[in-house]
Amino acid sequence: MTESKRPMTIRDLLGRKKTGEKIVMVSAYDALFGRLADEAGVDVILVGDSVGNVYGGLDSTVPVTLGQMIYHGASTRRGVRHALLVVDLPFLTYHTGAKTAIRNAGRVMQRTLAQAVKLEGGDADMTATVAAVVRSGIPVMGHIGFTPQSVHALGGARVQGREAADATRLMDEARRLEDAGAFSLVLELVTSDVSARITEAVSIPTIGIGAGRACDGQVLVLADLLGLTDRFTPKFLKRYAPMAEDVRRAVREFGDEVRRGEYPDDSHSF
Ligand code: KIV
Repeated sequence: MTESKRPMTIRDLLGRKKTGEKIVMVSAYDALFGRLADEAGVDVILVGDSVGNVYGGLDSTVPVTLGQMIYHGASTRRGVRHALLVVDLPFLTYHTGAKTAIRNAGRVMQRTLAQAVKLEGGDADMTATVAAVVRSGIPVMGHIGFTPQSVHALGGARVQGREAADATRLMDEARRLEDAGAFSLVLELVTSDVSARITEAVSIPTIGIGAGRACDGQVLVLADLLGLTDRFTPKFLKRYAPMAEDVRRAVREFGDEVRRGEYPDDSHSF
């Protein structure tokens, strides 16, 4: 596989749609975890605005700002050498017209050195914005289904596509985003059946989270899959490590040794 020896490109991702090799994406927010995920061989690292939930302790991504995304994007960039780096545009930084969207996407690209941005939504207005951003030379990853920036409008984190009309809407959004020039699509909390139909219908890769196995790739938040966010228990999440407990155990042990006067011992002293 030659693509793993050099930085991942959007062309490589599009190629995966043809070869069928699954795309692996994680959300990470800093140089430390970005580097570890990159060294583990993921294809795409998303600096997601879920940083607001995971690092910021917020209930939603709505309060996350462009400045915060730029800070986390630039930090993650310093750890990532091979994976394609994508940064989320946060709430209301691309909704008031193409000009603003291009300006904010441009800021993110220049200050973080990401290769692409991700925008949520697939209605006619958002698709026009995506088309304008793509025309300006900035690659866009789309995101439909449950779109966390609209959590209040959607009435919570609900699975999308259960009703026929909803499924049709999602199919239309996917096709429109493809026509607008998006290079891939995140499908979040979408029924497996609708995800499979979208994946079949579009020529760009779909990357699922809570969207079944038919997608061309899968994304999880790195802190979730590592088991660091042990109070977050959605059905789709599989934890691959018990890190929250590891952290608590290690810090407890450090505290115990300090209190007993065992740390530092001679081998850790000058
Ligand atoms: O913000 C994020 O991390 C995301 C992914 C979960 C797709 O949007």
